[in-house]
Amino acid sequence: MSEPRQILVTSALPYANGSIHLGHMLEYIQTDMWVRFQKLRGNQCIYVCADDAHGSAIMLRAEKEGITPEQLIANVQAEHSSDFADFLVDFDNFHSTHSEENRELSSLIYTRLREAGHIATRSVTQYFDPEKGMFLADRFIKGTCPKCAAEDQYGDNCEKCGATYAPTELKNPKSAISGATPVLRDSQHFFFKLPDFQAMLQQWTRSGTLQDAVANKLAEWLDSGLQEWDISRDAPYFGFEIPGEPGKYFYVWLDAPIGYMASFKNLCARRPELDFDAFWNEGSKAELYHFIGKDIVNFHALFWPAMLEGAGFRKPTAVNVHGYLTVNGAKMSKSRGTFIKARTYLDHLQPEYLRYYYAAKLGRGVDDLDLNLEDFVQKVNSDLVGKVVNIASRCAGFIHKGNAGVMVAGDAAPELSEAFLAAAPSIADAYEGRDFGRAMREIMALADRANAWIADKAPWSLAKQEGKQDEVQAICAQGINLFRQLVIFLKPVLPVLAADAEAFLNVAPLTWNDHQSRLENHQLNPFKALMSRIEPAKVEAMVAASKEDLLAAEAKAPVGNGELAKDPLSAEIEFDTFAAVDLRVALIVKAEAVPGADKLLQLTLDIGDERRNVFSGIKSAYPDPSKLEGRLTMMVANLKPRKMRFGVSEGMVMAAGPGGEEIYLLSPDSGAKPGQRIK
Ligand code: MSP
Ligand code: ZN
Repeated sequence: MSEPRQILVTSALPYANGSIHLGHMLEYIQTDMWVRFQKLRGNQCIYVCADDAHGSAIMLRAEKEGITPEQLIANVQAEHSSDFADFLVDFDNFHSTHSEENRELSSLIYTRLREAGHIATRSVTQYFDPEKGMFLADRFIKGTCPKCAAEDQYGDNCEKCGATYAPTELKNPKSAISGATPVLRDSQHFFFKLPDFQAMLQQWTRSGTLQDAVANKLAEWLDSGLQEWDISRDAPYFGFEIPGEPGKYFYVWLDAPIGYMASFKNLCARRPELDFDAFWNEGSKAELYHFIGKDIVNFHALFWPAMLEGAGFRKPTAVNVHGYLTVNGAKMSKSRGTFIKARTYLDHLQPEYLRYYYAAKLGRGVDDLDLNLEDFVQKVNSDLVGKVVNIASRCAGFIHKGNAGVMVAGDAAPELSEAFLAAAPSIADAYEGRDFGRAMREIMALADRANAWIADKAPWSLAKQEGKQDEVQAICAQGINLFRQLVIFLKPVLPVLAADAEAFLNVAPLTWNDHQSRLENHQLNPFKALMSRIEPAKVEAMVAASKEDLLAAEAKAPVGNGELAKDPLSAEIEFDTFAAVDLRVALIVKAEAVPGADKLLQLTLDIGDERRNVFSGIKSAYPDPSKLEGRLTMMVANLKPRKMRFGVSEGMVMAAGPGGEEIYLLSPDSGAKPGQRIK
């Protein structure tokens, strides 16, 4: 055996201002499978990540929610951590870029770059929001397109005609934050002199560190000449102040990749066997891999290696780039219910189903990957349940019934055993090269052979015949041995299935090399179902819940011109979204005040085929609730039930007005019947 390798692996640091969705999960699952493979092989492999906590978007969102940025990022970090853990993504450390380690390392790297002459300063003229007192990034400026006169376009490009321009070219510019007309103002900025690293990057990007498609794309930039990179932002900003430059902050993308080092440094403090310098100093023998999506290549394959080189640290061994996730052949869509949050998926389905599907479809390239929900159900059910788990469930019963759960010795199918052994190096190569799709195909081809062999031997028929017990036991022991090898090969993808299989097999945690041995004269534990089929109804429920997420967010979205994010929630909704709302005529059967609640009435509503309990904040307009009894109103009948302090609210009645006494409950014209729907 060769020396164990020392490997440090990262996934991109998710922004701390939003939830994790299945697009993000493609990256974290891909990385986790690769890391688990390395660990299974006996290499020292460390997987770190963190939340990317800085920037004006996070500052503004915290402000909108009326909390401090620190509170916001703490809440989001808790949410992200549990999403990842429940998808079985096993970080050695999940830290934050808003950390002491990151502050120190960012200062250190900046200072070294400055001392080496790689930092320039010059004045920049930019739009400034006089009301809010801050400089405006392009996406916080809106106005009329200078080319096609479309209104309400962002500061850098027009969504109508596709033109790109400088924010100063926009007609009638407005701050998307306050609505004020921005003014031009000068300010001193700091620049990282990327052109100093032109020659190094030309060489580094072509030295096997990148996929060909990525290197080719970067060559376009490199050939047209690199620009200096603006790494500073003016206060107010949520980030680290630049040492010695009060009121100036590092741009979020300066300290974000340094967050990889910071997370590792934080881990080193807990794990004395890890030596920070051995991994990061120039000339380090450890390997360093970054897994990222195709949208952030320039930060990782140009700026980051240049920063590391300029500050005297080692550069990445490779940057592994993946494509984007589409769902049912299209961009994830909130109105179609295919913008699926990690948590919404987990509420309905097992994480390993998705891990396997992603593995089956991931190759080495940067192509987009489609999650086709029908294919997902079909593939997982047929491969994992129909092929892999099936082998164990076919064989286990006979061993328990016929031989008290003891696997007999002997090899009943030497050619098959030979084929499984021979396939291992190629499967390992596929994993190593991130060609998970090939690994899965080769593993499933083995599973097919095992199933065909068992079907041919038909132990279930033999078991009914006199004197065939030894043959049945030999076949089933072989079946379980083949199953055990498949489990080893699949363990990076399916860690829970592997753990459950280890419990059934009554063995210590399996490692890669265990595929070379067999279980003989070995006592099994009782067999429990290892994986159940995906029910298509669960997938439908997940899609429906994703549409509901959208409605809930809409109900919360503030109205007015203060809304700035490029967010469909505050603007028009798709027809499908509207059509998903079940609006019904409801008869108020009972209306009562809620003891202990100032604003709420408890309503019992008759909607034809059933009765609903709804809490509604309309008490101020109806001090004598009994007057509402017997009248009709309108309700949203398919709102997700909400647990409140006083009970569960099963829908929402519709009312309009500014509040207080001026709340008007909507009514249908006379003649309407409870339960009738809006068409
Ligand atoms: N904060 C930056 C990364 C800083 S790394 C020093 C960022 N965050 S992100 O939350 O927007 O994205 C995190 C990762 O998820 C990125 O690698 C991104 O490419 C990936 N993905 C986000 N949406 C995705 C899909 N729809 N599909 C596949 N990957 C996607 O970028
Ligand atoms: Zn335009």
